[in-house]
Amino acid sequence: MTFDRSPLEWIDGRIPVFAPCSAADRANSRYDRDFNVPDVYTGIAYGHRLFGDGSAEGLYRTMSALLLASAPKTVLDLGCGVGRVLYDCAPALPETQFAGLDLSYNMCRRSVQLLNGLDPIPLPGLERWGRPNIVFSEPRQLPNVKIAQASALNLPFAPLTFDLVLATLLLCRLPDPVAGLAQMIRVLRPGGRLLLATPCGFNTAEPWSQFVPPERLREHLSILGLRIDEWFENLTYREVIDAHGNAHDWRVRVIATTSLV
Ligand SMILES: C[S@@+](CC[C@H](N)C(=O)[O-])C[C@H]1O[C@@H](n2cnc3c(N)ncnc32)[C@H](O)[C@@H]1O
Repeated sequence: MTFDRSPLEWIDGRIPVFAPCSAADRANSRYDRDFNVPDVYTGIAYGHRLFGDGSAEGLYRTMSALLLASAPKTVLDLGCGVGRVLYDCAPALPETQFAGLDLSYNMCRRSVQLLNGLDPIPLPGLERWGRPNIVFSEPRQLPNVKIAQASALNLPFAPLTFDLVLATLLLCRLPDPVAGLAQMIRVLRPGGRLLLATPCGFNTAEPWSQFVPPERLREHLSILGLRIDEWFENLTYREVIDAHGNAHDWRVRVIATTSLV
């Protein structure tokens, strides 16, 4: 699995960058404005290990189970964030090549610390949420995982590169989810699987009528040549925010498909 172009820059000399973002853009990004953001997402996505809290496990274990069931040889995790699905699946499939892509420089940095790292990771960003002195002490060194910075709207891979593409909690963060889906299909091999999990938390009007209604989305996926293997609604994904247990609940739609084209 190789990139179809050269990186335009590097983060910390080791993470290739395909969609450079200026410092000003990053300061305005909800996912990149500072390092507290990946600390908070590390607390949420790895809450079972850090706090014995399983609030996020329903979603992550569902996505991992769907991935592992098809035993793919090449996997792309789009909008991988802090890399939780990669953390679970890459050790289980050591012969499989995994790529994790995210637009946020800091999410990429955190994924590398967690997935290609040795050192314990302090999480000072959790202190203001009532959780001081938290350290993630179980980073993994996974030679079969590559992290890169790129946009889901312009993937740096040739067509037909992957056996499986997954996008967990990404679609409604994209300015153009239709274009994002087209990119996912482009890099998927015929017979490959596309796994989507979205709380449909769109904040522009168009997707609510054109993309969110199940019959519209089914039609859209069918036009893209995707067969729907599984579809279910209302998987609760609970993001626990603080030491008191205050939380946001998301009602996640999960769709597993196979590409017929
Ligand atoms: C809600 S988080 C989900 C992270 C991860 N998939 C998980 O479930 O834990 C959404 C992620 O999508 C990333 N993202 C947003 N827009 C993106 C884009 N255009 N291309 C790639 N990643 C993007 C964000 O930086 C963030 O890490």
